[in-house]
Amino acid sequence: MKRDIISVLDMENELDEIIDLSMKLKRNRYESYDHARNRVLGMIFEKPSTRTRVSLETAMAQLGGHAIYLNPNDMQMGRGETVADTARVLSGFVDVISYRAFSHSNVVELAQNASVPVINALDDLEHPVQIVADFMTLKEKKGRLGGLKLAYLGDGNNVANSLLLGGAITGMDVYVGCPRGYEPNKEILEKAKQRARSTGSSIVVTQDPVEAVKDADAVYTDVWASMGDESVREKKEKDLKNFQVNSEIVSHAKKDYTFLHCLPAHRGLEVTGDVIDGVNSAVFQEAENRLHTEKALIYRLLE
Ligand code: CP
Ligand code: NVA
Repeated sequence: MKRDIISVLDMENELDEIIDLSMKLKRNRYESYDHARNRVLGMIFEKPSTRTRVSLETAMAQLGGHAIYLNPNDMQMGRGETVADTARVLSGFVDVISYRAFSHSNVVELAQNASVPVINALDDLEHPVQIVADFMTLKEKKGRLGGLKLAYLGDGNNVANSLLLGGAITGMDVYVGCPRGYEPNKEILEKAKQRARSTGSSIVVTQDPVEAVKDADAVYTDVWASMGDESVREKKEKDLKNFQVNSEIVSHAKKDYTFLHCLPAHRGLEVTGDVIDGVNSAVFQEAENRLHTEKALIYRLLE
């Protein structure tokens, strides 16, 4: 049966294994693997991308396969061909489809109608493949995931949602610090709390950034205005300003805390330059790990 990665929960029982495989692939970066030989990945991007696009495309090349970038504006999808028909047609050509979409329901619809695996390459609800690289980076830095405290400050967005789920299933305490009205998705929060009960971790949403960051092993933030939020950018910048990651706030974290950001970043808004460019920052290691984790995911999906 084909399998999809639409949510972090689709990797619930194998996140550790995927991270271990990613580390192995990183160590043997130029060893030749041909798990994707003669296989093709179709990548639909409704929104811009640097990391996701290049890491997926490079991953396919290094696994002996090929990737095709598909911009909906250049496809019949942009002229009204349905997501379902697109899924059926692409399934006849390619072996895996990745989809970066505005709407989560479109990703679900594509997956339901495709006969090949579908990878969610970010939508308005989750960014599951990002979290694998984030957690790999933390494992490299800290040697473990269970028992760590991760603080996320800012907008309770797609990345925050996926971090909550990932933290809950790996036994990490996840504290989200955000103003009222910017909380993560309610259903995701519920699912994360439910998982956390069995892994023994804590899932906390607080309006107090100091409580969120206190003694944290990792401090994470993301853009305040996500792709598609352009019309509310100014309001968000005003509402979220007390949740900036700066040297004052990180002084409450553990001394050896790791700073993470999925990137792209806006210095002076969600994070200050001294933090993102400082000694505790692992954001470029995290970005590189997108390649190794994407390789591991494709490797497993094509198995
Ligand atoms: N972090 C991330 O997904 O980056 P891109 O938008 O550049 O793909
Ligand atoms: N939350 C951001 C993540 C970008 C990788 C967005 O959706 O634009």
